[in-house]
Amino acid sequence: MSVRNKRGRDDVSGKEKEEGAAIEEKPLIKVAAICGSLRKSSYNRGLIRAAIELTKEQIEGVHVEYIEISELPMLNTDLEVDGTYPAEVEVFRQKILEADSCLFASPDYNYSITPPLKNALDWGSRPPNIWAGKAAAAVSAVGGGRRAQFHLRQIGVFLDLHFINKPEFYLNAHRPPGKFDTNGDLVDLETKERLKEMIVSLKTFTLRLQD
Ligand SMILES: Cc1cc2nc3c(=O)[nH]c(=O)nc-3n(C[C@H](O)[C@H](O)[C@H](O)COP(=O)(O)O)c2cc1C
Repeated sequence: MSVRNKRGRDDVSGKEKEEGAAIEEKPLIKVAAICGSLRKSSYNRGLIRAAIELTKEQIEGVHVEYIEISELPMLNTDLEVDGTYPAEVEVFRQKILEADSCLFASPDYNYSITPPLKNALDWGSRPPNIWAGKAAAAVSAVGGGRRAQFHLRQIGVFLDLHFINKPEFYLNAHRPPGKFDTNGDLVDLETKERLKEMIVSLKTFTLRLQD
């Protein structure tokens, strides 16, 4: 007897059924990637683009989506009406809610995270807190980003975000040899390899947390 599978085709053999089941059971981790810089040629956004490419080509079971935060209004609770938020905020919150984990690419602005990133974190923290229980990782294109990452982790304590500790990831993008091209795209192979390790670590931790 022929059976319609989820792809809408008739199964022709038990082997194909087994293969189909294997494909459906493969976990797909959805990662929401947020960049703290609004700059067009941002190195940090370049790291996110590289993460998207790597997951498409080399890392199974992970889908990274870039989430825009430049459209979010500056947080003002006067903009909240009967527990609802401005349209851009609702869209942003929904995208984070649908993700299993978050990847933050954060520059260092005066030893901390940037205003747009803090704004996004704060909008997400309004009730109900949409960050709660998610795994997270932070990357920075500048060495000073380490300090920003510490602030990010501190904020994550209250937001109930669970950051991976290793591997740490930060670069010195402004120092030679150049790791990015003029468009801000990551071109350095060794750095791509490090980024890959970071994403695999985030995937592993996300799955552990979900267990
Ligand atoms: C307001 C401001 C403050 C900054 N403060 C620091 C800092 O404290 N330490 C540091 O290493 N870089 C600092 N920088 C440099 C940025 O982190 C650096 O230019 C980074 O590449 C910006 O990220 P992007 O390339 O993704 O835009 C600062 C830049 C700005 C605009």
